[in-house]
Amino acid sequence: MLTKEDNHLLASTRAGTPMGELFRRFWLPAVTSAELERDGAPVRLRILHEDLLAFRDSNGDTGIIDAFCSHRLAPLYFGRNEECGIRCPYHGWKFDVDGNCVDIPSIPRGNNETARSRVGLKSYKTREAGGVVWVYMGPKDRQPPFPRLEIAMVPPGHSHASRWIQRSNWLAGLEGELDSAHISWLHRFYAPEANPIKGGGTETFDDAAPDITLRETDYGFLYGARRAHASGANYWRVTQWMVPMFSLIPRGVGEFAEGGGRAWVPIDDDNVTTFNFYYRVDRPINEDEKSYMASGVAFPPRLERGIVRLGEAAPIDTYLPQANVDNDYLLDRALQSGYNFTGIWGANEQDRALQESMGMVPGSRVVDRTREHLVGSDEAIGRMRRRLIGMARALAEGNEPAEPFRADFGVRAIGKLSDIANFDELRSQHIEEFTVPQRSEEPAQ
Ligand code: FES
Ligand SMILES: [Fe+2]
Repeated sequence: MLTKEDNHLLASTRAGTPMGELFRRFWLPAVTSAELERDGAPVRLRILHEDLLAFRDSNGDTGIIDAFCSHRLAPLYFGRNEECGIRCPYHGWKFDVDGNCVDIPSIPRGNNETARSRVGLKSYKTREAGGVVWVYMGPKDRQPPFPRLEIAMVPPGHSHASRWIQRSNWLAGLEGELDSAHISWLHRFYAPEANPIKGGGTETFDDAAPDITLRETDYGFLYGARRAHASGANYWRVTQWMVPMFSLIPRGVGEFAEGGGRAWVPIDDDNVTTFNFYYRVDRPINEDEKSYMASGVAFPPRLERGIVRLGEAAPIDTYLPQANVDNDYLLDRALQSGYNFTGIWGANEQDRALQESMGMVPGSRVVDRTREHLVGSDEAIGRMRRRLIGMARALAEGNEPAEPFRADFGVRAIGKLSDIANFDELRSQHIEEFTVPQRSEEPAQ
């Protein structure tokens, strides 16, 4: 349970709010690389309540700039992306990827340069890694080094990134990631051999009351969920949380070959972009893996490219889940009686069905956490909230977070069958498996 004030603090991400400022101290995933073609259509984004436009110029460089022209605020989306800049459709002013105004054709040449220097657009630093364009939206003098997230470090072809809109506050999504206990219920299949979700592990369903051990770290925390396995061994699932909203979820059991994770990037306080990352360390991803991803059975869900208008705000370009609140997430009661626990087909579709329709603060899509009752298996959720509240409050008092600069985000989530029943022992025995090795091709800062 949270007080009304703390719930509001965590949920609010507008510039100037404690949590909004904290988000702005980190590199955030903004748009997938594949969406931005050289001189192609720009993409309308909203991140942390800010209307932005992403595009790739003639040189292949990416820019994330104000969505509206500095002249009379026309939507630059309708402009022309050509010859290293976007030209506004209204009166032809032109802007480059850094937001500089490079041409004002509507005034005499003599006055052009001075005028241009005064009308540059807001623009944010971008960086491309792991199939995603990342953005830093904080103060220029606080820009941290790019994090050693493995999802962003594997060679091209080894990763698959996707994104879509979830119609809830960002925190409900992250809480689902850190909630090991729900997997045994929400994602349960009656016939384990029919479970189409890779890495879901039939082991997960043998014991619905995992024993959780959590350890705080410089980057956030990790926790081990230990379940009894039919073989008599301990079945460990080790999940990682990195501040503010990255999670790594274990996949298969055994030698680490593939990883995956998610990031929750607030659109506004009632909508969030979910980023899903899948990668392999041992080889490029293959056609089977790509079609598994396209099937929507796990993450991402079944998606369509679309435009969405949130209230009276400007439209944004995103991916829209086909199973959504307007069609009951394609709930099939026949499926529910014999196939799986919910009757909803895909894993994200199951998660979203709940997270988008929980008991909300009236007039919002923020869960009313003053009314909940957390238990022992919710420890990770409670610890995550306390850490973020502490960081956000400290920042509001002028104490900058150390994490963006000092924490090493180079960690992994793993699944293991082991005789070891103690988490600290498991961790020290397998420390190299929890850690991303230094690579020669690591991105320069
Ligand atoms: S509004 Fe963009 S050039 Fe006039
Ligand atoms: Fe889930």
